[in-house]
Amino acid sequence: MTVSALSVSCLNVLRNKNLKNRNRMKDMMPKNGQFEMMQLPYAELPGVISANTQSFHHGKHLKAYVDNMNKMLPGSGLEDLPLAEVVKKSQGGLFNNAGQVLNHTMYFEQFGFANHELDGKMLELLERDFGSTEAFKKEFEQKGATLFGSGWVWLSMAADGKLVITQEANAGNPVTSGLKPLLTFDVWEHAYYLDYQNRRADYLAALWQAVDWQVVAARI
Ligand SMILES: [Fe+2]
Repeated sequence: MTVSALSVSCLNVLRNKNLKNRNRMKDMMPKNGQFEMMQLPYAELPGVISANTQSFHHGKHLKAYVDNMNKMLPGSGLEDLPLAEVVKKSQGGLFNNAGQVLNHTMYFEQFGFANHELDGKMLELLERDFGSTEAFKKEFEQKGATLFGSGWVWLSMAADGKLVITQEANAGNPVTSGLKPLLTFDVWEHAYYLDYQNRRADYLAALWQAVDWQVVAARI
């Protein structure tokens, strides 16, 4: 193996390890009944999401959800479960906060500065189930734009392997319907109002520029 081939190989090992870490959040376990807040892997997504929005969205909104969840977990009977199981088994305030921790963690982790081109398995699956990537993106944006009030639009895999797009109100996550969530766009106003004001459709259309499709594919 040449030195340059060895360097590429080492980089791929590091990258795959990083991807694995970034996709384990739904399996994240609490320590002494408390979950840690994920670290934001970037300060901004230039031209898509500003540092100001990221700072409020991660530092204020997600932090509040994590703090609230951690206050409600002790004595709930769910304090030793992975995050996705807490979401599946909880109700009321604990469900709202745990759901938002899972949703935001998956949202922030799926963006980055690489792998913006669809290829391989994800491309194959999207073309199989939606006809084309353009048709998939159009339906995804349309479902995000027409979700009334606050919530999330999701791409998930059903038990039969088919990809589906769903709308989830408030803190909803497709895991509660037996689906495997792969990709999500946050349509709560706090996700876009500082940068896009009321132009939710523009925000949704811009987000594709920042999706790291390898992170999404690793969630299958
Ligand atoms: Fe949000």
